[in-house]
Order: sequence, then structure tokens, then C-alpha cells
Amino acid sequence: MYGMIHQALRGMAVRRIGDPAWTAVLREAGFTQPLFIGMEYYADDTTMALVRLLAARLGMSCDELLHEFGRVWIDFAGASGYGRVLRMAGDDLVTFLDCLDRMHSSIHSNMPLAQMPSFELIAADPATIELSYRSGRQGLEPFVRGILLSVAERFGETVTIDHVPQDGGARFFIRRMAAHG
Ligand code: HEM
Repeated sequence: MYGMIHQALRGMAVRRIGDPAWTAVLREAGFTQPLFIGMEYYADDTTMALVRLLAARLGMSCDELLHEFGRVWIDFAGASGYGRVLRMAGDDLVTFLDCLDRMHSSIHSNMPLAQMPSFELIAADPATIELSYRSGRQGLEPFVRGILLSVAERFGETVTIDHVPQDGGARFFIRRMAAHG
């Protein structure tokens, strides 16, 4: 995955355990270079190794870490040069989720090596949103769930989320609490 993702992960690690401790973990794991270049592409094995190292250091499962990282990632992306992309992608949760593929394609033109996920809005009513997620990668559902929770909060919605496996990914069910105010 692109270095930008690793930069966000490093930011999370440094906030949790401090820069020297994280650098030491990386060194022990054989990473000679503690920093990542945003526009450079790194093998998914590197990404997952970082996730595993940080999860082990924090005593969390990889799924728990990926879930928390989903929330961190959206804050990171929102504060980056892509903040505008995120803000322009819709004025409400349903519109935003309907535009996820378009949003990723616009980012893809800057990051040609990226393997973007694919989302499809299946159904939406005031109680539930059904969203299909497909990916060439496996095991990132907790990451998706973390992102979706954060995104819902950005639109002032409180939701609970679960998902069931489907071919090539998962089907997410986003249950919406009645909006306040
Ligand atoms: C401005 C905001 C965003 C930016 C800049 C962004 C960018 C990216 C980039 C660069 C990748 C890595 C692809 C690669 O290197 O191969 C990625 C992957 C991913 N993005 Fe986004 N993204 C954003 C928002 C979102 C949102 C709102 C979601 C909603 C769920 C999302 C879901 C994912 C997932 C699940 C992946 C993992 C790839 C996979 O599943 O195969 N992203 N995104």
C-alpha cells in the first residue's frame, strides 16, 4: 500500500507508545528505515507486518488494531492534502457512501499503483444502510468498519455496524439511530 497509509499507522504508533519505542520495535523486526515516503508503494506484507507489530506491542488483536486504525486513517486523510476530497464527497452519509468508488478513482489518478476497494450502495432507508464491499485483499473488514463509524460521526449520525461475508468481501449493515437536533 502507499506510504501515506504507513505514515498514518506510524502516527498512531508514536501517539500510543512514543517515537523511540516504535523505532525500536521496527528495528527489532528488521526494518532499517523507520520512516515511510507518502508517494512510494510498499508491499502489502510490509503493511501487515506493521499492523501485527503494533498490535502485539499494544496487546491487541490485529482486528482490534485495524478497527482503531480505520478511525485514525480518516482523521489523517482529512488533515492531509486529500481533506478536500473527503469534504466534497457528499453532504450526507448516504450520498457519501454512494460516491466512495468515484472518490477512490479520483485518488487513483494520483496513486496509479493503488489497488482500490470497491463499494456499492445496495439499499438505504432511515433505519438501515446496506453497503457492499469488495477487495482484492483479505481481512480488512475491521478497518472498513472503523472508517464507516468515523464517517457516520462526521455526518452527525450514531450507528452500529455489522457485516456478513460475501464473495470477494463483505456486506455491511449500518443501523442508524434516530438523529438528534
Ligand atoms: C480522502 C479520503 C481517502 C483517501 C485519501 C483514501 C485513499 C486510499 C488509498 C491510497 C488506499 C490504498 C490503496 C493502495 O495503496 O493499494 C486506500 C485503500 C482503502 N480505502 Fe480509502 N481513502 C479514503 C477514504 C476512504 C473511505 C471513506 C473509505 C470507506 C470505507 C475507504 C476505504 C478503503 C479501504 C477498505 C481500503 C483498503 C484497500 C482494500 O480493501 O483492498 N477509504 N484508500
